[in-house]
Amino acid sequence: MNPAVPALEDELGDVLEKAARHVGVPMEKIAALADVEMGRIKDALDYRSELTQAELGRLARVLHLNEVGLCALAQGRYPTPEDCGLPFRLHPLRMPFGVGVANAYLVSTGGDSAVLFDTGASHAELHRAWPAAITRIEAVFVTHYEAEHIGGLETVLRETELGRFYGPPTGRWPQCRGLGEGQSVEVAGLKITALHTPGHAPEHNCYTIGLAGKSGPGNLLISGDLIFAGSLGGGYFCCQRQLKHARRVLELLPGDMLIAPGHGPLTTVANERRFNPFLV
Ligand SMILES: [Fe+2]
Repeated sequence: MNPAVPALEDELGDVLEKAARHVGVPMEKIAALADVEMGRIKDALDYRSELTQAELGRLARVLHLNEVGLCALAQGRYPTPEDCGLPFRLHPLRMPFGVGVANAYLVSTGGDSAVLFDTGASHAELHRAWPAAITRIEAVFVTHYEAEHIGGLETVLRETELGRFYGPPTGRWPQCRGLGEGQSVEVAGLKITALHTPGHAPEHNCYTIGLAGKSGPGNLLISGDLIFAGSLGGGYFCCQRQLKHARRVLELLPGDMLIAPGHGPLTTVANERRFNPFLV
């Protein structure tokens, strides 16, 4: 594995747990339906999986999961393509948060300015992850209003004197310029279009990004906590809507589009269509 590629956000146990929630069936019943001992599923949930390929196959059928992707995940061999030849620069800002990592992103068409997507767990962490090459922020976009994605927001708005940010419409942040489904903004040489994708949270946007003035769907998706490499964000607001929007977005966008998720490594639309356990 390339050491520069961060670990997947979710392991096999996380995926099984989320999938059980999606189908709304208790794990004991899933074990019985898949003919897998409950103790062996419990071990997988505790990150000590010894499930065989045959057991994983039966679980995939009961949980409506992609068997190939699930087995790749279980073997630690889930593919994570990273290089898509973007026509602009992407700087992932990876910040420790709890036991995991939260991502923010800078996108720049050149020079020292960039557009910031999410602001990380705290301003201090954002500062630590910041590349020296970027000294000016032209705009800030937020995917959703969770602590590990907007920790540095107030300070960033103050320091940059932007005062406002773009995000999913909300009554909680007077500084928010709400962007609904399909609404676009052109800034810093980029065209940024919102996709409204509630499910992980009631207010959640993904953003497609392409060069301003170019037609087409763009080159990059900032997916927030909708889609991760090898998994989906938790459907804490509504797991059915989370699943519905993940499928919709992956069907809508071109296969060669790079995905930059709120947690874990980069991936592509084609990779997730093919291997994401939740996409069958
Ligand atoms: Fe998150």
